[in-house]
Amino acid sequence: MEDLAIARGIDPNKFIIGIGQSQQAVPPNHQDIVTLGAQAALPLLPSIDNNRLKMVIVGTESGVDASKSSALYIHKLLNLSPWVRCVEVKEACYGATAALMMARDYILAHPGTQVLVIAADIARYGVGTPGEVTQGAGAVAMLVSENPRVLQINDDSVVKSAEIQDFWRPVYQSTALARGKFSTEQYINMFCDVWQRYSAENACNFNDFEAICFHLPYTKMGLKALRAGFEENSGMSPTSDTRERLLARYQDSTKYSRRIGNIYTGSLYLGLISLLDCDYFRNSCDSSATACDSSESVGDSPAVACDLSSAAHTNEPPTCPSPLLPGQKIGLFSYGSGAVAEFFSATLVPGWRDALFSNQHIKALNNRTQLSVLQYEAMFNSAAPYSPQDFASSQNHRSGVRFVLDSITSQERRYLSI
Ligand code: HMG
Repeated sequence: MEDLAIARGIDPNKFIIGIGQSQQAVPPNHQDIVTLGAQAALPLLPSIDNNRLKMVIVGTESGVDASKSSALYIHKLLNLSPWVRCVEVKEACYGATAALMMARDYILAHPGTQVLVIAADIARYGVGTPGEVTQGAGAVAMLVSENPRVLQINDDSVVKSAEIQDFWRPVYQSTALARGKFSTEQYINMFCDVWQRYSAENACNFNDFEAICFHLPYTKMGLKALRAGFEENSGMSPTSDTRERLLARYQDSTKYSRRIGNIYTGSLYLGLISLLDCDYFRNSCDSSATACDSSESVGDSPAVACDLSSAAHTNEPPTCPSPLLPGQKIGLFSYGSGAVAEFFSATLVPGWRDALFSNQHIKALNNRTQLSVLQYEAMFNSAAPYSPQDFASSQNHRSGVRFVLDSITSQERRYLSI
């Protein structure tokens, strides 16, 4: 992001401190939300029982077809049972939360079944736009069942919808349109609204939460909302211990987003993974892997996932939080422009740390190739076109990748497992 800022004639501190982004994921043109989504679900395959799996739901706002569900392509790449329902859900960055809630309700109605929820997106604003600094790409997969291995989703959510023109993407283009500052205000207002109603309906306050994860279009965004929430919380003020804990946990939840950017509907869940992985590394790494050092996140030690470099960027106290424990409650704030916002909670279950893929995550992040700004621009502009012309994807950067979009011929997409 430093290189990008310099190329755009902007002070790098604006990107790194003001917006809170250090790196950005740039997908090669053989990657789209289908390949990213399938790749994210791979580690879950051993836990999927084809007799119990009943739905595959993909939340996305960068789908590859206006009609056919991306879940069908992913379902084929993963070789899943044909006896499932495959659908795609759209409402900007809120889509995956809608999918997760549908999955939870389905499991309640049909105990013993499983639902695979995938959040996959490529955030594109365009070269030289104000949103460019917040671009990113990625996917998160979640297996929902009645016996969760990580978190139990509680039945306490508050959701609000309001038609707002803060961010949108017409179907004929791959880049989003945004009223940047307006969208930021709407995000904060929606958080304060759903939080106030949630805390009243559930008779709780900030002190009841061990951590709160936010949708992260950029890492500064959730912090602005959390601070606004602290101010608004008249009558039930968070204690100073609570403020310190939630701010320190917030820093943990932003580590991956700071290195990836906005992955739209998966970004809340990327924040959750970041929070849990930081705890994992902090509480299982040996003394040589200094979990709470203040180095930059560029090495290949697992400890880079939980260093405090981003805390230094935001002037937050360099607190190292205590280990997360089963029974503790995590708040989750989902926001999708347009706009729908939801606040709900989930509770850590016994053995949750054993179910993580923390080492795989940090390896994937550290194995990326750094691009120059010119290489990034060329890659950005080489994406599969929004037009009927044939397309053959690049043979470069395919190592470590299991699925590729190989070509589009006569307007039909051809995916390969490699
Ligand atoms: P901008 O106009 O480039 O930036 O827009 P700015 O002038 O507002 O500056 C940003 C921050 O950097 C400010 O701090 C500056 O003071 C600071 P703040 O007041 O916000 O705390 N700054 C500096 N700091 C240190 N050193 C410096 C320096 N210079 C300035 N030298 C914006 C930024 C995020 C609006 C833009 O990138 C944008 O339009 N992004 C896309 C829209 C977006 O992300 N909106 C977020 C809310 S909506 C949402 O979350 C939904 C979404 O994910 C989509 C979906 O739902 O599908 C986007």
